[in-house]
Amino acid sequence: MTRFSESLWLVGKDPWPDVEVIDQRKLPFEEATLILRNLEETARAIETMVVRGAPLIGITAAYGLYLALRNAWREDGEVNDVLVEKSVQRLLNTRPTAVNLQHVLKDCGQYVSLFEGEEKVHRALERAHHWRTLDVKSCSTIGDVGLPLIRHIAQHKKGPVNILTHCNAGRLGCIRWGTALSPIYKAHEEGIDLHVWVDETRPRNQGLLTAWELGQEGVPHTVIADNAGGLLMMQGKVDMVIVGADRVARNGDVANKIGTYLKALTAYHHRVPFYVALPHTTFDPDVGRGADIPIEYRDGKEITTLRARCDGHIRPAAVMPEGTPTLNPAFDITPARYVTAYVTDRGLFTPATIHTLQ
Ligand code: MRU
Repeated sequence: MTRFSESLWLVGKDPWPDVEVIDQRKLPFEEATLILRNLEETARAIETMVVRGAPLIGITAAYGLYLALRNAWREDGEVNDVLVEKSVQRLLNTRPTAVNLQHVLKDCGQYVSLFEGEEKVHRALERAHHWRTLDVKSCSTIGDVGLPLIRHIAQHKKGPVNILTHCNAGRLGCIRWGTALSPIYKAHEEGIDLHVWVDETRPRNQGLLTAWELGQEGVPHTVIADNAGGLLMMQGKVDMVIVGADRVARNGDVANKIGTYLKALTAYHHRVPFYVALPHTTFDPDVGRGADIPIEYRDGKEITTLRARCDGHIRPAAVMPEGTPTLNPAFDITPARYVTAYVTDRGLFTPATIHTLQ
């Protein structure tokens, strides 16, 4: 990226800065940012998808807990575990599917409860930093683990390796590198000839975020309508599919952006390898199978309306009459049997071994 090297950073006076994030609702047309100064602004940023993507949601929430404690200390000179619990609860209620949120908040809540008074604020900030640093490392490792898969294809074919991805599992959904896009960035850096088919990903068009960030890095790509992938696979124009995940159940079933399942089915039929990239924090050993993962249903306006640039202005445009009945599940479940392998920060796993990921 030219202007943004990370999706979230700190601004203002140390030791207790504010948090600044890329406002992803405005991309790819505007490169705007938003400063988060308190718990409610942070929770709203997650709910309204200013920030999005499983890892980034978790990290932003960790900073949200810190902001809640910081402000309470500044205003009342007091912070306690009741406030910690209430803040964690508010943040947990923002989005239900991505498990990173629960994972990170549980850890941060437990950690800060070990300390008293002002020390709680310092430790909340320290723990949020910890998760942010860990994400950069994990995502880089995911890239290292996934790179040989791309290299292998490149060594056995002429022309570019064609990789299809769905949604945005790039640096915008994390801090740097991304999950599914990390092996792609590493392969591109290594000089491997590759090209990415980017699913548009209706209704919220996260594919446009993917196209934007691939463009920033000079990675060759083409945006396709969500329904085009089947034809491309049938025509032999897809060498591998790689997607991210919002939660992976103990049996390997994958919750990811709506539409992922259809891509997995098609890839399976055409014998195209289907990879799921995730940090270990996206694995949920407490959920046995995909059917038990809560699916988020979002406002139907995301279907009836598109954010579009028209005559130089960016505004919501209705694409169907108001009142049109809609249903908007944000995620679907891909059964483990359609997954070739899981590319993780702890190595490569298969549906038979994923339950051992820790
Ligand atoms: O609704 P979103 O945009 O938060 O959904 C994001 C996804 O489904 C991603 O594929 C997933 O979180 C992996 S992000 C690195």
